[in-house]
Amino acid sequence: MSEKTPLTSEATPLRHVAFIMDGNGRWAKKRGMPREYGHTFGVKAFRAIVEHCGKLGLEAATFYAFSTENWKRPPREVNAIMKLMDTYLAECEKKLDQYAFRLVFLGDKSVFDEKRRAKMERLEELTKDRSRILNIALNYGGRSEIVTACNRLLAKGKESVTEADFNAALYTAESPEPDLIIRTGGDLRISNFLLWQAAYAELYFTDTLWPDFGPADLDIAIDEFNKRKRRFGGV
Ligand code: FPP
Repeated sequence: MSEKTPLTSEATPLRHVAFIMDGNGRWAKKRGMPREYGHTFGVKAFRAIVEHCGKLGLEAATFYAFSTENWKRPPREVNAIMKLMDTYLAECEKKLDQYAFRLVFLGDKSVFDEKRRAKMERLEELTKDRSRILNIALNYGGRSEIVTACNRLLAKGKESVTEADFNAALYTAESPEPDLIIRTGGDLRISNFLLWQAAYAELYFTDTLWPDFGPADLDIAIDEFNKRKRRFGGV
């Protein structure tokens, strides 16, 4: 994430874009290939979009890579996604200086084996002084995040909390609220993603399947965002 191109108007400041990367399976099926093939190309699209988010000067970008519900998929597919993730983590570590962003993993890491968890935590630690954030939601669920936040606050002995306390207890504590949430793949729902944080986010849905979603598509979504009037409950 390097050059900064101003992309926001005063009326619609854009600091944080979040992505529900849907449609990998259908993209593969259309080509007569197994679902894992779609995920491999999904990672290619992910890389291109991360790079573009960097060029656009966003403060934060969030990607829904694996939900708490995705464990229900066939083991072969789950293993393929985890393998892609491991490859990406290894690459991030190797090219740490080329990536200007802070890596944050949203979700419950306790389910991962020691090696993967240690790698995620090491990357978070090594990049923690960087200001712009790349959130990767992995074993993430919005409801589970809210319950985890409640338990964190209870463990601190809190008896009543403010919204600021609550924000600080979420996995996304370090990020601004998402301004724009983009879902590819044609479904019109948010599927347990950033439930608390999405309160005032603009939602953008496209039929484009994730592996086909490129920087030009993100620019179109941002143009649409810039046309919207955000009132945050005001008039
Ligand atoms: C949704 O498509 C996609 C996922 C559940 C996984 C997304 C994961 C990646 C793009 C790889 C993540 C890895 C990194 C390194 C970020 P789907 O399988 O539900 O597609 P469908 O709706 O067509 O079946």
